[in-house]
Amino acid sequence: MAAQTPALVLGIETTCDETAAAVVERQTDGSGRILSNIVRSQTGEHAPFGGVVPEIAARAHVDLLDGLVDTAMKEAGLSFKQLTGVAAAAGPGLIGGVIVGLTTAKAIAMVHDTPLIAVNHLEAHALTPRLTCALAFPYCLFLASGGHTQIVAVLGVGKYVRLGTTVDDAMGEAFDKVAKLLGLPYPGGPQVEQAAVNGDPKRFAFPRPMVGRPEANFSLSGLKTAVRNEADRLAPLEPQDIADLCASFQASVLESTKDRLHTGLKLFQEQFGAPRALVAAGGVAANQAIRSALQEVAAKAQTTLIIPPPALCTDNGAMIAWAGAERLALDMIDPLDAPPRARWRLDGEESSAKSGDKSRVNF
Ligand code: KG4
Ligand code: ZN
Repeated sequence: MAAQTPALVLGIETTCDETAAAVVERQTDGSGRILSNIVRSQTGEHAPFGGVVPEIAARAHVDLLDGLVDTAMKEAGLSFKQLTGVAAAAGPGLIGGVIVGLTTAKAIAMVHDTPLIAVNHLEAHALTPRLTCALAFPYCLFLASGGHTQIVAVLGVGKYVRLGTTVDDAMGEAFDKVAKLLGLPYPGGPQVEQAAVNGDPKRFAFPRPMVGRPEANFSLSGLKTAVRNEADRLAPLEPQDIADLCASFQASVLESTKDRLHTGLKLFQEQFGAPRALVAAGGVAANQAIRSALQEVAAKAQTTLIIPPPALCTDNGAMIAWAGAERLALDMIDPLDAPPRARWRLDGEESSAKSGDKSRVNF
């Protein structure tokens, strides 16, 4: 049953190292508006360790979340009583942080007698272009962040088919690990991109992982090892070596990404017909070279490329609130004992998550 009145939803995001709260309004015609969107990145807390430390992240969420929710509500000019629902990312992610955000949402839902929506973080990324540009289903999502690398057919709210995923490291994680082994600071993606500008992408013939494979999966850890071996062979590294290693690494990622997306879009077409767009999300979508590669892939597949603005591509509360509002409009609400999940596949097959908290530190 579709909602008859506009919805005002508070969204909470705590699955990794961003603490975020936002309020979004969804009209009955399906259009959306962000009333507030507060994000506090914990990058500074984790930088000395070269990656996200789950325990530090969970404690920081505890310290920050109350204040952020308060600010988000004030900026939206609302009291809790005016909310139509409260949404939290219930996974997948680092379980300590997920528990903090979900429990906070449950408390607000209980005290103010408002519906709870336990949102899958990946679903929130997937539905963001419907908030930013009212995109209709079906479309193809390429999600590449520090924790995920997936190609997903987005068919409807709650209707997703994963067409490809990484079999080892996430793409952002590979950038971070390469940066770390070359002595560049965390987060490594922007550093590697920057260094690559002055480098020779042809100096090192690194492998092009998975290119030509019939399924649309990614693999990045072998490529990272190839960079490590070359760096060890060359040590001590001159600045030009670092630039060339970054450029050659990025060139491999680009070739692999183009091929994997080409395959993913072909699988999409075979199974669901033409997608209305190729949508990119996640921190890696900030990379200009990746963006150009995506443009090339979309043009070849005769589809449009949509990349939400950077603040809505990376982790944020507005995407959680929006996914909550989309679900709420379809009466898809959750009980107050909805579980936090470290692992949670978008297309339904999910393993129990309570003990699956994987460290994100790149040792
Ligand atoms: O989506 P995001 O902000 O947070 C999560 O991982 O959930 O993504 C962060 C990841 C990091 O691994 C970071 O190194 C990568 O995205 N990243 C980039 C760039 N900017 C951020 N990777 C490659 N090139 C970039 N310019
Ligand atoms: Zn994310």
